[in-house]
Amino acid sequence: MSKKINRLVVIGLGLIGSSLAKAARDRGLCREVIGFSRSPDTLTKALNAGIVDRVVHRIEDVAPELGEGDVVVIGVPTLTVPSIIRSLKPLLADGVTITDVASVKGSVVNAVREAYECIPPQFVPGHPIAGSEKSGVDAVNPGLFDDHRVILTPLSETGSQHIQLVQALWEGAGAVVSKMTVAEHDEVLAATSHLPHMLAYALVDTLSKMRENQEIFRYAAGGFRDFTRIAASDPIMWHDIVMANDKAVLSVLEALSENIERIKQAITTGDSDHLLGVFTRAKEARNHFSKMLENKAYLEPMTQIIDYRVAPGGHVSGEIRIPGDKSISHRSIMLGSIAQGVTEITGFLEGEDSLATLQAFRDMGVVIEGPTDGRVIVHGVGVNGLKAPAGPLYLGNSGTSMRLLTGLLAAQPFDVELTGDESLSKRPMERIATPLRQMGALIETEEGGRPPLRIKGGQSLKAIDYELPMASAQVKSCVLLAGLYAEGVTRTTEPAPTRDHTERMLTGFGYRVDRKGAVADLVGGGTLKAVAIDVPADISSATFYMVAAAIAPGSDIILPHVGVNPTRIGVVNILQMMGADIQLSNHSEVGGEPVADIRVRYAPLHGIEIPEDQVPLAIDEFPALFVAAACAEGQTILTGAEELRVKESDRIQAMADGLKILGVDAVPTADGIIINGGPIMGGEVDSVDDHRIAMSFAVAALRASNPVLIRNCNNVVTSFPGFVSLANEAGLNVVEERR
Ligand code: S3P
Repeated sequence: MSKKINRLVVIGLGLIGSSLAKAARDRGLCREVIGFSRSPDTLTKALNAGIVDRVVHRIEDVAPELGEGDVVVIGVPTLTVPSIIRSLKPLLADGVTITDVASVKGSVVNAVREAYECIPPQFVPGHPIAGSEKSGVDAVNPGLFDDHRVILTPLSETGSQHIQLVQALWEGAGAVVSKMTVAEHDEVLAATSHLPHMLAYALVDTLSKMRENQEIFRYAAGGFRDFTRIAASDPIMWHDIVMANDKAVLSVLEALSENIERIKQAITTGDSDHLLGVFTRAKEARNHFSKMLENKAYLEPMTQIIDYRVAPGGHVSGEIRIPGDKSISHRSIMLGSIAQGVTEITGFLEGEDSLATLQAFRDMGVVIEGPTDGRVIVHGVGVNGLKAPAGPLYLGNSGTSMRLLTGLLAAQPFDVELTGDESLSKRPMERIATPLRQMGALIETEEGGRPPLRIKGGQSLKAIDYELPMASAQVKSCVLLAGLYAEGVTRTTEPAPTRDHTERMLTGFGYRVDRKGAVADLVGGGTLKAVAIDVPADISSATFYMVAAAIAPGSDIILPHVGVNPTRIGVVNILQMMGADIQLSNHSEVGGEPVADIRVRYAPLHGIEIPEDQVPLAIDEFPALFVAAACAEGQTILTGAEELRVKESDRIQAMADGLKILGVDAVPTADGIIINGGPIMGGEVDSVDDHRIAMSFAVAALRASNPVLIRNCNNVVTSFPGFVSLANEAGLNVVEERR
């Protein structure tokens, strides 16, 4: 802001007034700072402490000199503001800017309207969200507003030059200025400030009356101190605030009273699920809130872009623990939520995709504890126990969440909207809307069958016999999950085997699924019973380390406890066909899923024609396999993989573009790619926000002659939190850069 303030008059030298005056003086925000207070003692202190340049003892004494460019700040308690405004009105010229710092804006604006019989353009209502339980001029702190918010609530009548001056004043004092309407301000503050203060006062008051000798305070622990710190604030000020914002305070108090009534009832009846629900939801909300504050979201741009700079060369070795399987993690939350009883999950993937699913079910009223070190506890609500979410379910980057949830939600009694990030918003959803509509669901998509999806509640579904037009586990799972709610036998037939976690896990939850070759059948209307789920390591994430070891001479790596479901091991088959040295050992089965330790040692690779029947079994692994092909001798040809073009990105194009930049001969085709192995240079490639593209190019650097800079790697956390540190532990040299 370039606006320069001439004189600043601060009326009322309490904590806020004196701190603003001192900040303005120390930081040279204006030519002169003038202070007024009804207390001569305060004025003397303000002068002695260098808070103001000069003081006036009567309000009339300052007003006549003021004009355009001068700012008067009314810094008195909320209920005193009207009388100050009344006395200022005949004194101040039209050009003088007037603002206030009261915590309630509605009552101040009303007082101004009454005094002036209109809203004068010179008046800019304001409220700094700063303070402490200390008050008065003795507590002066010129740094009080640094990085704090100031909310201005200008009205349509307010003059823009006056807004600019007030904004410049607060920004100069270190604050971040935002604007809202008066009503919005008073509602938000009632909930986040006025009510908490009132509760702190009420609690201390109640406890102090409970025992004559008040000995309980002697035993008060940290919780009591934390909760009641604000009850040491100025009682007159908070009395004024609550009185002035009565309606908004009463309305949140009403909502809180209902919640407390319900808690009382839960304690009386021993309803532990209810209590746990309240506490868990609150903890999550509080964590979310702390993160927002830590990020200082309103000060720094929220989205810093992450790039990876990977040094060339090296090899990988050691035992590497890969995070949990994404597909299984999603399904464990979904089925756990609609099961009866408590499902305990271990090894859950704490990546953004599976967390999006977790959050969606919390939004639909399911109590979910964790995740803590991969442990999640889902308090199932039964097949018909989900509740309408308060708003759209945001599913981030996760196609699996959106497609499977749409099936599960197609027959709920409530409407629901599913939204996602930029990449998900471009992905095809007609493939699930079509069979669901055949079942009787009402689903609206955006143009071209893209998200957001709007599902109309209250539909009764009829089972269908669905032949999938493409090999897609997500479409199959979507139809089967809708089938749980449909009348009759829902049947899916797939053109080629795809991952069968849904079928296996339904069986694990005690729901009968009949399977014969490509066909899976289930009868709607049954129930699921909670079960413990141990999520194995994700073979799709393990792939980056398998390929790393397969291409980098000297590598020898062990990946323990990886899911090796036959519908997922295309990558092992393909790499072995290319000559890779891969051994599986320690075979076991956890929760109906085969698991093994995978050891990969370097061996020279050669190009192959990838058999098409392997494509659905390695569908997510191709970006990394293309890197293996680039390091193999000879040509590798992939066909029958057009699905790769509609993943988180067009993976054929994105990989071909990046490989070419790195000097590799890679020719994209409509349904695959042709890669001729050869040396990899270095260079700058773009992951196009696709997690698997980013990680594949990081691995490619092992065989590069120069550093590889990979742009836009933020989405790696969707499937592989901790990728960079694990990569470095294994022997890569990846530096995360932020811009
Ligand atoms: C998944 C199925 C696959 C896969 C995705 C996860 C699943 O998608 O690419 O990462 O969990 O069912 P399609 O069904 O679209 O092939």
